Amino acid sequence: MSSQINYDSKRMACGPADLKALKPKLEAAKNKILQLSESGAQGWIDVVHDVKLPKIIDKACRENAKFTTCLVLGIGGSDLAARAMYKALKPANSKKRLVFAGANTDPDELAEVLDDLDWKKTIINVISKSGETIETMSAFLIAREKMEKSLGKKQAAKQIIATTSEDSGALRALCEKENYYFLPIPENIGGRFSGLTAVGLFPLAFAGINARAILKGAQEQIKLFKSQSSEKNKAALFAALQFLAYTKQKRGIQILMPYAERLREFAFWYRQLWAESLGKEKNAKGEAVNIGPTPVAALGATDQHSQIQLYTEGPDDKTVTFIEVKKFKFDLAVPKSVKSDKIFGKLAGIKLENIIHAERAATEFALQQKSRPSGTLYLKSLNATSMGELIMFFELATAISGELYGINAYDQPGVEAGKMKLKSILDI
Ligand code: PA5
Repeated sequence: MSSQINYDSKRMACGPADLKALKPKLEAAKNKILQLSESGAQGWIDVVHDVKLPKIIDKACRENAKFTTCLVLGIGGSDLAARAMYKALKPANSKKRLVFAGANTDPDELAEVLDDLDWKKTIINVISKSGETIETMSAFLIAREKMEKSLGKKQAAKQIIATTSEDSGALRALCEKENYYFLPIPENIGGRFSGLTAVGLFPLAFAGINARAILKGAQEQIKLFKSQSSEKNKAALFAALQFLAYTKQKRGIQILMPYAERLREFAFWYRQLWAESLGKEKNAKGEAVNIGPTPVAALGATDQHSQIQLYTEGPDDKTVTFIEVKKFKFDLAVPKSVKSDKIFGKLAGIKLENIIHAERAATEFALQQKSRPSGTLYLKSLNATSMGELIMFFELATAISGELYGINAYDQPGVEAGKMKLKSILDI
């Protein structure tokens, strides 16, 4: 297969000299990432080639084929990738659906979600690598009680799937004790890099989305990353340009603005990946650096009427990356019958796809007029393979950025500190 992604960076404000100077660092970053993968220290590259993974997913889907709803409970890295891919790939007219909760402790939200479920037709997929995250686990315990009240404890246990660490944590222990169906999260894959494991792939496959095609897309990006020089590789180029914008131009706000409603959630997945991986107090040597770009999730064309005024005329501290989907699924056009209308006649026959593409081009132009940098990722179309590519493109770009910044992209001490404090406030 060939890649369905292209990255146009010619409007990123970066001199070739800066990129040239970064070349050795970029090459070193690539080597380090490959070495982390080969040594098994990081598993997120290897996992997409693991032939056992699709089989595990298939089996779990087969065994739960009679259910129509999957209540997916998770937060952060155990939530956002599945949400993003479901929004992008949700099959039309499917009898199966995913319902997400657990990403907040807002009782009103959870109560509404649970009230709407028919437990006889529902499975719960509780996802937590640590198995001890308060948001996820409290939502799970509430949902489980409702399910048990409706079906009885024995039957409920047959409708619970726990996706968690292979060999540690409270959820793993509970899973053993209650005999819940178990799906593994490999130890060497951190939360926000786990979207292409059972964490994201089981719920998606349950909903009828082709998990193998997602993996195939991810494999394509890895193939390109390995075979191309780091200056030619688009994920590496993206990382390099954002890094230079931050370090050389003080452009630390890095916006992702897909022009596709189906990629709305994807921008939030990017936001977490970029923020949690790159925002660090210390560098890899343990020195205080307090570094990291601030990612922003935006949506075209909607945010042209909300954010673009700020991006074009406010502080010049941002980069914008658009995503353009070349071919949409539906072919809608303004009716030709309005041709004779004095005011709207000129819109007659214009395809919405052409309007949304023109809007992105117009925004790019407006930014350029004010010397504000932007880049565009072009996707041929939105499908399981291109989504797999997109996910891996950003995982690679994040890992490369981590190396360029000289920080550990895989830990999150700032998050852990909050998790610990929460437990002490709640006295648990
Ligand atoms: O990326 C991360 O590591 C975090 O965002 C975690 O995914 C998040 O805190 C949830 O953790 P867990 O899967 O242990 O419940």
